[in-house]
Amino acid sequence: MVLDAPNLLICEKCGREYELLSRRIFCDCGGLLRVELRSVDAEVSWELFRSRKFYVWRYRELIPVPKDAEVVTLYEGGTPLIRASNLGRSLRLTNLYVKFEGANPTGSFKDRGMTVAITIAKYLGVRAVVCASTGNTSSSMAAYARRAGLKPILVVPKNGIAKGKMGQGLLYGATVIEVEGGFDTAMKVIMELANDLKVYPLNSVNPWRIEGQKTVGYEIVDELGVPDWVVLPVGNAGNITSLWKGLKELRALGLIKRLPKVLAVQAEGASPIVKAFHNGKYVPETKVETIASAIRIGNPVHWERALRVLNESRGYALSVSDLEILNAQKDLARLEGLGVEPASAASIAGVRKAVDLGIIRGDEVVVAIATGHALKDPDVMLSYEVDRVVVADAEAAVKTIEKLVMSG
Ligand code: F0G
Repeated sequence: MVLDAPNLLICEKCGREYELLSRRIFCDCGGLLRVELRSVDAEVSWELFRSRKFYVWRYRELIPVPKDAEVVTLYEGGTPLIRASNLGRSLRLTNLYVKFEGANPTGSFKDRGMTVAITIAKYLGVRAVVCASTGNTSSSMAAYARRAGLKPILVVPKNGIAKGKMGQGLLYGATVIEVEGGFDTAMKVIMELANDLKVYPLNSVNPWRIEGQKTVGYEIVDELGVPDWVVLPVGNAGNITSLWKGLKELRALGLIKRLPKVLAVQAEGASPIVKAFHNGKYVPETKVETIASAIRIGNPVHWERALRVLNESRGYALSVSDLEILNAQKDLARLEGLGVEPASAASIAGVRKAVDLGIIRGDEVVVAIATGHALKDPDVMLSYEVDRVVVADAEAAVKTIEKLVMSG
């Protein structure tokens, strides 16, 4: 099926339309803008997509960047969808899969949105790009900005991002501004800059970020068909918004027939969306705390969109404790060999809880999105002091190993 009206930016609050390639992030009314896919160039089909390399741009007809734009890519996406039978067994699930987004070039799903948004930034001729971040968006933006020859400026919570992520910002030589007050304060800085023409904001309020991130949903159904559940950790709620947008587009194009249910997982100490889902009222949180620093967010920009996704998908939202997150991180590593950062482990902890609550049934097909790599947060890994033996020399090491092997 080919849709044939011009693609444009549309305000989700008042419906006002803007030209697709305007430099805008927000509508004049303050509402968020969305890329509205109304025309698709070619007769798209799974066959066409599958004739191409497995990465974000496999689906390029559905990502409406101008034809003459030079794509800025590090070959992001195309991440492994891994069947997790051992972990599944321990959760009483027969069909559990993990979409390992840590395999992206900078170690998180953010690269999907960044390849598209930086491509547009370059096309629009901006020189400097800025974002607020709990560490993954900033790492990704720094990398793609450098690849495109743009100047990256990162606004991060002071002492609030994991070491690996801070290290990435420094490696790429980005300007790093650390603010007191956490991610929500950093985000305010971006809102202030939204209409400044000298610097282009690349948070997920930028509609082009969503256009890239939606490909995670494309890839899941491309490889597996439509699962019963997609589970993901939610912070600012850009990813849940993207996943759903992408899947709805596929359905509109006749490329899938049904949609999955979505399970949103937040950390107990930062769970305004979960509370709003259950209480029917959204209240931003001012004091947020969790070991999962990536999702330590009290006032998610996309909270309304997230609630809409949960409602439309007949999904569910729940929160998990830090202890549950850490246990899930260890389970995934020790039962499947998969190393993910704490925020990503939240989705596994969420699956466990949803099965216990009877929300997910044992025979349902479940895809948990593991959003970032374990190496992002070395401090958390180093807190797991198991079987570390310090010996004086090689001989002592050999003896220790022999003793270990003997004892089974
Ligand atoms: N998982 C990881 C590893 C993240 O880095 C993030 C968000 C999320 C989950 C949640 O995604 O915000 O779209 O709901 N990280 C952002 C950042 C906030 O700045 O890197 P979301």
